[in-house]
Amino acid sequence: MIKQAIIPLAGMGTRLLPLTSVIPKELLPMNGKPNIEYILEECVNAGIKEIIFIISKKKSSIKKYFYSDKLYKSIISKKKNKNIKEKYNKLKNYKKMIKFVYQNKPRGTGDAVLKCRNYIKGNHFLMLLPDDLIMNKNCSKEMIKIYKSKKSCVIATKRVNPKTVSRWGILSLKNKNKTSFEIEDVIEKPSLKDAPSNYAIIGRYILPKKIMNILKNQKVGRGGEVHITDAIKSLIYKGEKFYGNIFKGKYLDSGTLEGYIKSNLEISRLK
Ligand code: G1P
Repeated sequence: MIKQAIIPLAGMGTRLLPLTSVIPKELLPMNGKPNIEYILEECVNAGIKEIIFIISKKKSSIKKYFYSDKLYKSIISKKKNKNIKEKYNKLKNYKKMIKFVYQNKPRGTGDAVLKCRNYIKGNHFLMLLPDDLIMNKNCSKEMIKIYKSKKSCVIATKRVNPKTVSRWGILSLKNKNKTSFEIEDVIEKPSLKDAPSNYAIIGRYILPKKIMNILKNQKVGRGGEVHITDAIKSLIYKGEKFYGNIFKGKYLDSGTLEGYIKSNLEISRLK
C-alpha cells in the first residue's frame, strides 16, 4: 500500500513574485486557506499516513505554520473561540503526519526526491507538486487504485494545448483507454516538433523507491536542474512499467500569478 507522500516545497516561486518575496507560494491563501492545505486534504483522503515536506531554510515559515502551538494555546486560553480551536486541532493533526527534510539549493525535483532517500519505507511512494491543484475528484486516490490493479508506477496526466507542450513533461502513449494508458516514454519540456503527444505530466506521481539509485547518478538536465522526468525515463528504459492516469477532477495551476488568481475564483465557485 502507498502510505507515504512527499511534497517538494523548496522552489523559489519566481513566477509569483513579488508575493513570494515574503510569503512562500504554498502558504498564499486560496479562498481562505493556504494552497498546501488542499494538497494535504487530498493526501489524507487518499489514505496517506506520513508526509515528507522538502523545504529550504528560506521557507521555514512553512514549518512555522504547523508549529505555532504557543500562539494558539495562548489565544485559546484567553478567548474561548470554537472556530480557532477547530483550526488549531486540524493543524495539530497535520503536524503529527509531517516530517521535514531540507533542500537548501533549488536543484530541481529530482534532487528534492533524492533528499528523502533515507525516509522512504515502502517500495513505492506518492509525490505531489503543490502548484498543481486537482479539485472535485481525488487524483491521488485514483492513482493508488491504478497502482493496485496494474501493479505499476503511475503519473497523472491531461491533454494540453499543443502550443504549450514546451511548458510540461510530455508522455508517449501505448494501449490507451478512457482512464489510463501505458507510458512508452517521457520527455521534459520538449519543443512542439519533438513532442510525442499533447498528454502532459501533472504533478502527481507514484514512484518506486529504486528511483533513488537512478537519482544518485542523475546528471543535470534542462535549465541546469535534476528532473524527476529524466529519472523516470531511465526507469522506463530499464523495463519499469508506468501508467498515465487521465484524472477526472478539475485541474488548477496555482504556480503563476494569472493561474493563482483564476484558481482562487474557480475554488470560490466550487461547492
Ligand atoms: C514540473 C515537471 C513537469 C510537469 C510539471 C507539472 O515542471 O518538471 O514535467 O509537467 O511540473 O506542473 P515545473 O512546473 O516545475 O516547471
